Amino acid sequence: SGPVGLLVAAGSGSRLGASIPKAFVEVAGRPMLEWSLEALRAAGIGDIVVALPDGAVAPAGVIGVRGGATRSESVGAALAAAPGSGPIVVHDAARPLVPPSLFADVLAALEHADCAIAAARVTDTVKEADPDGAVVATLDRSKLWAVQTPQAFRREALQAALSVDAAILARATDDAWLVERAGGTVRVVESSPANFKITTPHDLQVAELLLRQRG
Ligand code: CTP
Ligand code: MG
Repeated sequence: SGPVGLLVAAGSGSRLGASIPKAFVEVAGRPMLEWSLEALRAAGIGDIVVALPDGAVAPAGVIGVRGGATRSESVGAALAAAPGSGPIVVHDAARPLVPPSLFADVLAALEHADCAIAAARVTDTVKEADPDGAVVATLDRSKLWAVQTPQAFRREALQAALSVDAAILARATDDAWLVERAGGTVRVVESSPANFKITTPHDLQVAELLLRQRG
């Protein structure tokens, strides 16, 4: 069967600091969640499960589930409600600028991997420092990727990767890492920094300007 989209929207948005959960904060006149849903639909993904904060109402035409305490638990809750048996594509509600073609790109890359993730080449030099600020190492930038969503998975690979302790799930900032841990193969699919995640008030300002231009 066809791919199922899992849209994770259950976070509180503590770093954004708004008075409502982040996915419901308006950007250019619409909740962030609606822009992300529109992109999934434009990509031809009709089966969509949304992980929502406690008490939130699911948008029309999607399956709503209550999210978990961590991002991976929210993915797990959404996966449990996914219809069919086709591949899964996970997307953050907090990336409303995603180009619809990126969903097809990551799904196509599953031909050669258990998991395929959108990622942008790192443009800053990245250093590792100790807690005092003393530099320990400078990483080789040419090999570094800043990971985004969408992330596509063979369904069995995602199911197996999520079948671990809550303590491990809590450490996962992305689901691809869980597939790596489980011994699965993960590939990057080159994406643009324009598909950034709205995390801080600055990100929200930039997204507002860009989405207003779109009309
Ligand atoms: N997410 C989720 N369930 C959680 C935590 C996060 O569904 N328990 C989702 C968020 O809604 C978001 C995506 O995962 O779309 C990426 O997470 P992040 O940007 O960290 O969002 P928040 O956790 O809401 O923000 P913060 O970490 O600043 O509190
Ligand atoms: Mg978070």
